[in-house]
Amino acid sequence: MPSTETVAEPLVSLRDLHLSFGSNPVLKGVDLDVYRGQAVSIIGPSGSGKSTILRCITGLLQPQRGSIRVGATEVHALAREAQRIELRKRVGFVFQQYNLFPHLSVLENLVIAPRKVLGRNRVDAQKDARALLAKVRMEHKADAYPGQLSGGQQQRVAIARALAMRPELILFDEVTSALDPETVGEVLTVIRELTEEGMTCVLVTHEMRFAEEISDVVYFTENGVIVEHGSAARIFQAPTSERTREFLRHALGDPGRRQPIANDPYLLTNLSRYSLSV
Ligand SMILES: Nc1ncnc2c1ncn2[C@@H]1O[C@H](COP(=O)(O)OP(=O)(O)O)[C@@H](O)[C@H]1O
Ligand SMILES: [Mg+2]
Repeated sequence: MPSTETVAEPLVSLRDLHLSFGSNPVLKGVDLDVYRGQAVSIIGPSGSGKSTILRCITGLLQPQRGSIRVGATEVHALAREAQRIELRKRVGFVFQQYNLFPHLSVLENLVIAPRKVLGRNRVDAQKDARALLAKVRMEHKADAYPGQLSGGQQQRVAIARALAMRPELILFDEVTSALDPETVGEVLTVIRELTEEGMTCVLVTHEMRFAEEISDVVYFTENGVIVEHGSAARIFQAPTSERTREFLRHALGDPGRRQPIANDPYLLTNLSRYSLSV
């Protein structure tokens, strides 16, 4: 069950964000709030600005207009790279490409940043790392190298590596999009457990059923604007915008438009496939 526990102040607050790449406006007035302990999903067509929103939250991109606040930090006002690096210690970011260090063991992948960036001692950092590997069910691979792991396993290690920094929140940007279908579930399970434990998460995902299940709030973006947002139940079951309805129809499939069964060419195709395989 998604957590509904919130405090008055959002942990992340975006107001009227405008961002262009050259003459190409990509965010056109985005407002978004994430409360502590919430799981917030951003869904929408490719190119609608979802990744750009996440990169603004971590200070990787600077909007031309608007404000970004994470906790007490006014991210849009940060002038020095050192300040942005401080921010990124507090905000975990997991990408589609897991980007583990290939020359380091799984355990060392988790230990290196807490030691070098947070100054933790080796014994404590290793102890934490092993606990986190157990959490993502990868403790048996502590001494393996990333190249010896499946995509799903590497992504679980990447999530544990983000957690090793003890972030205040984690951003997930299409973390299952590059995975083989059979390993998607194990990564989603790890994310689901994090949200159940109350980790604050912002997810950009194409896994619509997953977003519906685990999100407290869902934002639908299109063409640089938030078309609508609301509880997962409302967005998925009663969207107010025709654009949201259309997107979900495509993303979830459209059983309402199926032909009567006797005339259904897809059913016939599937039946013939089935009979070939038995
Ligand atoms: N670094 C960049 N330089 C120029 N254009 C970019 C850059 N990053 C993203 N864009 C453009 O911004 C738009 C939104 O991109 P993005 O936020 O990645 O969308 P999404 O994550 O929803 O697919 C796209 O049109 C994309 O081509
Ligand atoms: Mg993206």
